[in-house]
Amino acid sequence: MQLFSLVLFLSILMLFAKSVFSFRPFFLARNLRRQRQGPSAAVTKVLFGTQRGGDLTPPPAERHEDRVIYAGVAPKGWPSDVPRQSEYSAHKLLDPPVAVPDPYGWLRDDSRTQQPVLDHLQQENDYTGNLTQHLEGLRQTLYDEMLSSIQETDYTLPRPKGKYYHYSRTFQGQSYASYCRAPRKHDSDKDHNNPLLHMDWDGSAEAPILPGEQVKLDVNELAKGKDYCAVGSVTTSPSDELLAYTVDFKGDEQCELYVKHLETGEIVDHDPSLQMYGRVLWGNDDHTIFYLKLDSTLRPYQVYRRTIGTATKEDDELLFEETDEMYWTSISKSLDGKYLFVETSSTETSEVHYLDLKDDNDSSTLQCVAKRRFKVLYDVEHRNEQWWITSNVKGTPNMRLFTAPAQPNCQDDWALVTDPTTEGTPLFDGGYARALHGVTAFAGHVVAQGREGGMPRVWLLTMDDINKVVKFDTLTFEEEAHDVGLTSHFEFDVDKIVVAYDSMITPLQYLELPLDNPTDESERTVLKDKLVPGYDKNLYNCERVMALSRDGTTEIPVNLVYRKDIMEQHVASSGGGEPVHCHLYGYGSYEACMEASFSATRLSLLNRGIVYAIAQIRGGGEMGRQWYEEPNGAKYLCKKNTFNDFVDVARYLIDTKKLTSPQKLTCEGRSAGGLLIGASINQAPELFKVAILGVPFVDVVCTMIDASIPLTTGEWEEWGNPNEEKFHEYMMEYSPMQNVKEGAIYPSCLLTGGLHDSRVAFWEPAKFAATLRHAQSPESGPVCLKMELSAGHFSASDRYKYYRELAFDYAFLLDQRGL
Ligand SMILES: *[C@@H]1O[C@H](CO)[C@@H](O)[C@H](O)[C@H]1NC(C)=O
Ligand SMILES: *[C@@H]1O[C@H](CO)[C@@H](O)[C@H](O)[C@H]1NC(C)=O
Repeated sequence: MQLFSLVLFLSILMLFAKSVFSFRPFFLARNLRRQRQGPSAAVTKVLFGTQRGGDLTPPPAERHEDRVIYAGVAPKGWPSDVPRQSEYSAHKLLDPPVAVPDPYGWLRDDSRTQQPVLDHLQQENDYTGNLTQHLEGLRQTLYDEMLSSIQETDYTLPRPKGKYYHYSRTFQGQSYASYCRAPRKHDSDKDHNNPLLHMDWDGSAEAPILPGEQVKLDVNELAKGKDYCAVGSVTTSPSDELLAYTVDFKGDEQCELYVKHLETGEIVDHDPSLQMYGRVLWGNDDHTIFYLKLDSTLRPYQVYRRTIGTATKEDDELLFEETDEMYWTSISKSLDGKYLFVETSSTETSEVHYLDLKDDNDSSTLQCVAKRRFKVLYDVEHRNEQWWITSNVKGTPNMRLFTAPAQPNCQDDWALVTDPTTEGTPLFDGGYARALHGVTAFAGHVVAQGREGGMPRVWLLTMDDINKVVKFDTLTFEEEAHDVGLTSHFEFDVDKIVVAYDSMITPLQYLELPLDNPTDESERTVLKDKLVPGYDKNLYNCERVMALSRDGTTEIPVNLVYRKDIMEQHVASSGGGEPVHCHLYGYGSYEACMEASFSATRLSLLNRGIVYAIAQIRGGGEMGRQWYEEPNGAKYLCKKNTFNDFVDVARYLIDTKKLTSPQKLTCEGRSAGGLLIGASINQAPELFKVAILGVPFVDVVCTMIDASIPLTTGEWEEWGNPNEEKFHEYMMEYSPMQNVKEGAIYPSCLLTGGLHDSRVAFWEPAKFAATLRHAQSPESGPVCLKMELSAGHFSASDRYKYYRELAFDYAFLLDQRGL
């Protein structure tokens, strides 16, 4: 089963938000899929405001001093269908309820139509616009630089599936991608003569990438006349005749489904009233589509089977419904095409059902692999009549690997996969040293992914004909700090696989390697190098350092990238005495890993002398699940470790490494990373010159109190539930909105938001901007809010608009630093 379904959808949404585009699956999908997701560090956005144009005043925001939100047992008049806690929670609710002050609560407008609120947001944008008007020239320069460092006319690695190669193309001047396919020549030796190695594409927009290229879907056409256009799935039917695709035109992650006949161009299925999640899957025929519906909090919870062309959505068959609000549901198909998997999971418990697609005559029913057990996570893949299961059953800190006969309710038959070299010991022992995330099962081999020593790892398992592992290989690479992962594969019976590889100084490469000899580096073939025009790798260096946390024992990895000449100057300056400019990026939630990956747009910062640092703080999963779970990770009642680690890394860079100074240090995070930045600048405002909070989740307590807000219920297992006595006080102690330091000098802050963002509501950054201005010392830097009035959580869907925004942000950053 492909765990990364929803995340893949999200990464497609972010296609143009990424300077590095890869289909690399994330294996932490279980946690990632529900998260207030920040882009990978490669998608860094830098934003903030300046103080020039000093006569400008920020828009006044009225404070309603007596306005409160009640945490605890539901107050009178609270809608009875909105839960205050999960039905499984044993913790006591606060009783009587406790009032949490919410003086800017009037900025919450679920309808997004109230004039006073819209006017306020417009004034914020005007203020930010006027305050930064003088940066227009610099923005244009940065924008031009960014465009010159990306190959605008480009394509994604063609991937084989059935009779075709599938890929997408981008063209200079066009905002969106075009999805294409080209016929695949079926040689007897199965693509040994890989056409990608004999390409004669001349780099022009007119020439096809591969002979016989056909455009399946041109998103530029779809987006005409729309402010926002994000395509979810684009997938061809088993016969290759039909194309199913889903589109979100608003940015709220609700999609519409279209099915198009590829030869005639005719839309054969589309019901505008049918709103669904972005991910759709074909059955094993051309009539059946599986999709998910979202509930009012945008939680994917129902799985439907739809017969193409049926007149109404009422005819669609409900296959599965998850009523527990803690659980999110996802669908995937086994690589061998035999099963549809329906996975439902909270962050701590999961359950997988399967549907035999053999007959696909609407009579097969869902079966459960193993009933949910509290705090047991598991995932399932299928191969050779066996389930391959990754699970932490029996409370192991990380996942172990099991096989079981491909039957329902098989929990008593899970057998540990053992190491072929040491008879009897498990291949993955569930400990910290080698953390397994998941596997992909191919006909001849199983590919496992996870982490070792803080680095992503790919392992290959070779089996004998009774499915016993006889060989275990680890893929290794020269560069110490790197990023690697299996790309999307659509075929089961392959003898080569493709991995995506990059590092902070090596642009993305797709490497093909033979499954039967994966470790021999001479057998690896680069299928595609991401071209970064003008980039000279020799000018840059990257480095991995360890910062000691305040507990005196935990070492926090920090990846640095910079220009060699800048670091040489720094080292030469009275023995490293002269601080350099440094930008610190972090995320630290949901076990998500911030990898040491490449970013072409980041070059604009590096080339201006900035050292770029990515802190792999706790709350992420970089060092395995210990980095995330209680007692020593960072969630629930140890969440503060995330913020402490970030502040400790800043202090390390300033005091221990003597690399930078508070005047030259800036920080940035998006989404849950915005919570990180909010909490960190509250804790140590004096350490940073500028803070960028992208779509920041800064109103943790007020949001998590209210289950009618999207993402709340599922995330009671991430942050805890502030309605419960156990968590309330602890969350109040770090929630950024409640902890702004009266009279402190704050860094210049730039906050961004999207009016239609369903993951972090627009009122969070709007309220936080007002709160900061109200409390902080007048000597603080400016607080700027930039509210995108047409996009959602993932910023502009148009790539040029995205680069414009990024240039806007970088211009502020550079201006404020005086660079
Ligand atoms: C400056 O503010 C005025 C309103 O006060 C607004 O009309 C104008 O668009 C703003 N300028 C910029 C560049 O945003
Ligand atoms: C439909 O599915 C059932 C159950 O899987 C199977 O027994 C039957 O043969 C199938 N019918 C057809 C026409 O394929």
